[in-house]
Amino acid sequence: MLKELFRTKSLERLRASAEEPEHRLKRNLTAFDLTLFGVGAIIGAGIFSTIGTAAAGNILDGRLAAGPGLVVSIILVAIACLFTALAYAEMASMIPVSGSAYTYTYATMGELAAWIIGWDLLLEYAVSNVAVAISWGDYARSFLANVFHVNIPGWLAMDPRTALMLNEGTATLSDKLNLLEQARAGGPESALFANWNVLKDAPLIFGFPLTFNLLAVIITVVITYLVYRGIKESSTANNWMVILKVLILLLVIGAGARFISGDNYAPFFPNGWKGVQAGAAIIFFAFIGFDSVSTTAEECRNPARDLPRGILWSLAVCTVAYVLIAVVVTGMLKYTQLEGIADPLAYIFERKGFSALAGIISAGAVVATTAALLVFQVGQPRIFMAMGRDGLIGSWFSKISPKRGTPANATLLTGVMVAVPAAFLNISEVVELTNIGTLFAFSLVCLGVIILRQKRPEAERRFKMPLYWLLAPLGILACIWLALGLPPLTWSRFVVWLLAGLVIYLLYGARNSMLRHKNMSGL
Ligand code: ALA
Repeated sequence: MLKELFRTKSLERLRASAEEPEHRLKRNLTAFDLTLFGVGAIIGAGIFSTIGTAAAGNILDGRLAAGPGLVVSIILVAIACLFTALAYAEMASMIPVSGSAYTYTYATMGELAAWIIGWDLLLEYAVSNVAVAISWGDYARSFLANVFHVNIPGWLAMDPRTALMLNEGTATLSDKLNLLEQARAGGPESALFANWNVLKDAPLIFGFPLTFNLLAVIITVVITYLVYRGIKESSTANNWMVILKVLILLLVIGAGARFISGDNYAPFFPNGWKGVQAGAAIIFFAFIGFDSVSTTAEECRNPARDLPRGILWSLAVCTVAYVLIAVVVTGMLKYTQLEGIADPLAYIFERKGFSALAGIISAGAVVATTAALLVFQVGQPRIFMAMGRDGLIGSWFSKISPKRGTPANATLLTGVMVAVPAAFLNISEVVELTNIGTLFAFSLVCLGVIILRQKRPEAERRFKMPLYWLLAPLGILACIWLALGLPPLTWSRFVVWLLAGLVIYLLYGARNSMLRHKNMSGL
């Protein structure tokens, strides 16, 4: 039994399963599409929203501020991501099969580890999209209010916890802290609800006010439909949105550079090294996505050559943009003024009296987060598809729509899995869970490179990670360092998540694995 848990799927078998006619996808994507695909995934809620929390910290959650030192956090995260991106590039050129880290782990560490990574990738793709959808809702709401004077009531625009805590920004910080104290002391929830005007207007369900994020649900449904229609349609829409969002970031950098004041950079490291680490652990979210390029392996024209290009180029473009954005944002305002601000890039211009510019940036953020949503909504079903093909989850997940050439069932299910939590969850919790899950996957991909170099030194690699014996271990250490910057609660939630996955594997995947059946029948 123990041996079965560590059975690996050979490189040859992995490649062959992607070529089976009933599983074949349409090959349309070029290196340029892939780079834009990566940029589409990377630039999203992270740079448009969480950069504020990373710079200013959060007193309620006990999170330390990175301050202007955020630029150092960003450079460190970029280096950590570069190590991982090189590992992904080598793996993707060697195993050009959808499924990304899941597939690579199946080839290196065996079925149990592969299952754990597949389960873990749900955090990176579906759960991160929950955060992106929520952020989309925030920006869309302020855009609708500022430009069209359409006000979406608070109870239709946020999750219950945010409604309770933020009260649409009317409460003072000390009010929030008092309420938090009461909540922690187990105060009657109804008394808390009565204090908050967001909840005052909400309809009551069994005596409790109903609040949910309608905008986040709507965008998820729309994007799911687009992804369901086909990869080429999704990719074309993505290319336009990416060009627009890069232009918006250039606008922020160009217009903002004129307002930088050296005074705002002091103190540069308000919380020293710990602040830099905490900032890095959060802003890591803004980098997630370069790896999602690898989930489209079966849809590119020349995967072994183009996947490494798409992965590395997209990371390079975004790193340059992020460093400049951090310099501008922390130079335009004192970092403390960014605390609790959900739309920091628009806010810094609002504060300087440029409302029209702030409006344009909000509109750009809506487009930027739409593209990020799109790419992850493409990635998740393809991981499900690879797992379904291997029998670790039902074969229903790997069914390809003959008309559209996409994994239709898995796409629709992903839509539901993102839309429902996006209606009710709080963005910070979701971001942290995404980060820890992704860091885990990244470290296993670095480990996978080391293992495959030992086990299959002769296998063809169109791209080789340079100095793998040094950079792959450094990649693992960097991921661990970033994960240590996340709060203990996130660690506990992650452990519970992994244990739940283990139970599901033992009950279903271990028995239904295709590899097991093939091995038993001697195939
Ligand atoms: N990197 C993606 C974003 O920031 C997850 O939205």
